[in-house]
Amino acid sequence: VLNNVIKDRQSILETLFMGLARLEYRGYDSAGIAFDDDDGNIQIAKQQGKVADLERSVFQVKHIDFDHDFLYHVAVAHTRWATHGAPSAVNSHPHRSDVNNEFIVVHNGIITNFKEIKTLLEKKGYVFESDTDTEVLAKLVKFVYDNLKTDTGREPTFSQVIEIALREIQGAFALLFKSVHYPFEAVGCRRGSPLLIGIRTKHKFTTDEVPVLTETSDAGIVSINPGYRRSQSFLNFSSADGQTSPRVEYFLASDACAIVEFTNRVVELQDNDIAWISNGSLAIRQLRTEEVLSSSRRIHTLELELHDIMKGDYGTFMQKEIFEQPESVFNTMRGRLDFETESLRLGGIQANVVAIRRAKRILFIACGTSHHSALAVRALFEEAWEKPVFVEIASDFIDRKPPIFRDDVCVFISQSGETADTLNALRYCKDHDALCIGVVNAVGSCIARETHCGVHLNAGPEISVASTKAFTSQVVALTMIALLVGQSLALFQDRSRAIIKDLHMLPDIIRKVLAMNEQILTIAKECSKQQSILLLGRGGQYAAVLEGALKIKELAYIHAEGIHAGDVKYGPMALVNQARCIIFLALRDSHFNRTKAALAQIADCGAKPVVLCSIGDRAELSPFASSVLELPIVDEALQSVTSVIALQLLAFHIGVLRDNAVDTPRNLAKSVTVE
Ligand code: G6P
Repeated sequence: VLNNVIKDRQSILETLFMGLARLEYRGYDSAGIAFDDDDGNIQIAKQQGKVADLERSVFQVKHIDFDHDFLYHVAVAHTRWATHGAPSAVNSHPHRSDVNNEFIVVHNGIITNFKEIKTLLEKKGYVFESDTDTEVLAKLVKFVYDNLKTDTGREPTFSQVIEIALREIQGAFALLFKSVHYPFEAVGCRRGSPLLIGIRTKHKFTTDEVPVLTETSDAGIVSINPGYRRSQSFLNFSSADGQTSPRVEYFLASDACAIVEFTNRVVELQDNDIAWISNGSLAIRQLRTEEVLSSSRRIHTLELELHDIMKGDYGTFMQKEIFEQPESVFNTMRGRLDFETESLRLGGIQANVVAIRRAKRILFIACGTSHHSALAVRALFEEAWEKPVFVEIASDFIDRKPPIFRDDVCVFISQSGETADTLNALRYCKDHDALCIGVVNAVGSCIARETHCGVHLNAGPEISVASTKAFTSQVVALTMIALLVGQSLALFQDRSRAIIKDLHMLPDIIRKVLAMNEQILTIAKECSKQQSILLLGRGGQYAAVLEGALKIKELAYIHAEGIHAGDVKYGPMALVNQARCIIFLALRDSHFNRTKAALAQIADCGAKPVVLCSIGDRAELSPFASSVLELPIVDEALQSVTSVIALQLLAFHIGVLRDNAVDTPRNLAKSVTVE
């Protein structure tokens, strides 16, 4: 959204496309934009496929005057990942109220009661063109606008129209509306899905606070005086001479990556916020809710730098993120773990450590890779804490809605902090008064905000859709929590010291694994021809084989299955033969003898697996293996870090060898903000 700065159409559109390109890492199937034409109408361009294709087709349109200058202009862009309705141009956003594009909307999230609203609007004569939940929003807004105008005989404000429409909507959303009736205005709002406003101006901010209005008139309509320009309820800027109208641009986005190139000054909207931008001023209002809310939103400075989200010297973000793990795990520990004094401080949960120690049970709840990191640390928590530890897949947890008590500790692990299933589980546990802890990478995300306390991963932005460095940082962050909890257990202290010693060495240990890249590439060449790969491991290596199999599925599109090595004799053994591709994790840990026995059993069935073992065990395990990869030695509690990095490299190479887009695997999204 651009306001009050002279710009030509070309640069406005380029800004939109640049923002969309920065969001590509989240995964999408189609893209669309809306902008003003020279006659005060809204032009929409949208299509299935890549952002670059849309950009090319827009700039090829002959009758658009790209040099046309605007003092005020509102433009909207969107990438869609299909939830309701197949990927297609008509299902892409922006959606419109009618053929004249009176109101248009873009949406991130899901409208759960869209069918009811659609039925009602159809009865009123509205004709729908798409299969999406989003389209009902554009039509509902027009319906509200037309009715308000007829009933009151006055033109309602844009914000009033949206506020009334929002009262009818259920679900999770971040929305942005534009209308021909309010040419220099935009309204954004959110509930459950993130939305932030970037502000770019050379002028001085009169304050770092944007006031929030919460009062409503008895008609449920905001009583804002249309002559608001200097009203205290709007964010104002002062120009150097105090006279001229300050120049300011606003950028609304669901992800900081889209706007960090343009500004680092942002306001994060909260649930039920309605942001109204009008002729260069910003006002934020709250839909009336039960909760008492703060009366302002802070403008803060994004720490995300553009170079953080660029690929650097790497061909793909995936490769960059795998190779930056020595630094990302170090950053997770930085300022928290003092290796000299062996002292550990986790500021985000320190005040709650006693409560955590007193709790009856601990539950880890997460999805995908984040779920695997919980499995990787479960044994350590059992050891450090001596109480029941559960690991839950968030969607299954939500389906079951199991009993949760006030003396439970629930830990929500998420890279993005926006995963809808994990967020829903969090809200459920919070409703049941459990202590809720977030272990999240994205600062300011929903899970980070809604948990009672937490530990940020500080791993830096993870752009590639399939998670890599978040996993290793999660294992490290969770390990630190376990050590902190275990400080009260005398018997655990020697073990704790050994783990701290290896955490200190971990960046170097990871460098050694990364140095095995060429050896792993050789194995990848063999694996890339396979139809199916089995990965076997036990103990901490069970989590590693699950994660390795997930990476192979995501990046290589090969069927892969992680199997507990102790479970193989209960069925999977039937799949084992000479031809089958098997990767066997046999690192030296407390289960090593049993692991070796399982390896011998599958070798007896004719299998010749690729074995990943600890340095020094090659000779012992070679008789059972087609090839052996020796990984550096590290404490058992951290072994999943070394083996998962080896498997990340393997999956990456297979993906590249098979010509797959490893950064953006098909059908997947980085942030899964729908159930
Ligand atoms: C998506 C990503 C996965 C990730 C999962 C959970 O499926 O592609 O890489 O593990 O979501 O995401 P979270 O952000 O909660 O860790």
